[in-house]
Amino acid sequence: MEELKVPVHLAIIMDGNGRWAKRQGMPRVMGHYRGVEVAEEITEACIELGIEYLTLFAFSTENWTRPREEVETLFELMKTYFKEKRERLIELGVRVKFIGRKGRLPSDLRKIMSDLERETERCGEIQVNLAIDYGGRDDIVRAVKKAISLGIEDVSEESFASLLDLGGIPDPDLMIRTAGERRISNFVLWNLAYTELYFTDLCWPEFTREELLRAVEDFSKRKRKFGRVLDE
Ligand code: IPE
Ligand code: IPE
Ligand code: MG
Repeated sequence: MEELKVPVHLAIIMDGNGRWAKRQGMPRVMGHYRGVEVAEEITEACIELGIEYLTLFAFSTENWTRPREEVETLFELMKTYFKEKRERLIELGVRVKFIGRKGRLPSDLRKIMSDLERETERCGEIQVNLAIDYGGRDDIVRAVKKAISLGIEDVSEESFASLLDLGGIPDPDLMIRTAGERRISNFVLWNLAYTELYFTDLCWPEFTREELLRAVEDFSKRKRKFGRVLDE
């Protein structure tokens, strides 16, 4: 049997919470509650697999257009989760980083987010980047603004990439999207340039360790060419 090639950096668009809940005859937000539990389970599975970076899309710059109650419930859920799970995350060795705009989020949530980043700073099993109020285009625009304010004129791909939210870490090797949608939905645009894509019809609340392993096995068999000609 061939050795399993595990991605160094895995990115996930956790989609389908609302549809899953509706199918169970429950309000959409129940899907988000279940989704948080799955995110924890999958983080543990990623540590066991030896994945070093996990980037999770939790709230997009477009998700502000959802009904206000849903947006508020999502932020409440994040606040509760980040407080309740703080010790568990430290015990697991999870270094939490937040990517996205931050400035438009409720101030109490922002405070909890920066506390969690600080408290998990020395954790070394895995780095989990949580994308909240994140948009790939917005990330690029913010990086352009940074370059201008720093007076950088000689922009290269490397120097520019270092100004993006995921600057300084390797690009995702594999991206998984759940719930049958086959699109990027403004996730990390720059960094996904050469990422392998994996789609599953399972909704995020029903995503499992087994399905994660299936995705990694599928990734493991792929030939990454990066534009080259590979000797057969
Ligand atoms: C993903 O599930 C979670 C967020 C975008 C916050 P959705 O809420 O998009 O669920 P569907 O796609 O409507 O089923
Ligand atoms: C992408 O899912 C954003 C997150 C998972 C946080 P959406 O459900 O918002 O994307 P679309 O609307 O189906 O493209
Ligand atoms: Mg969706």
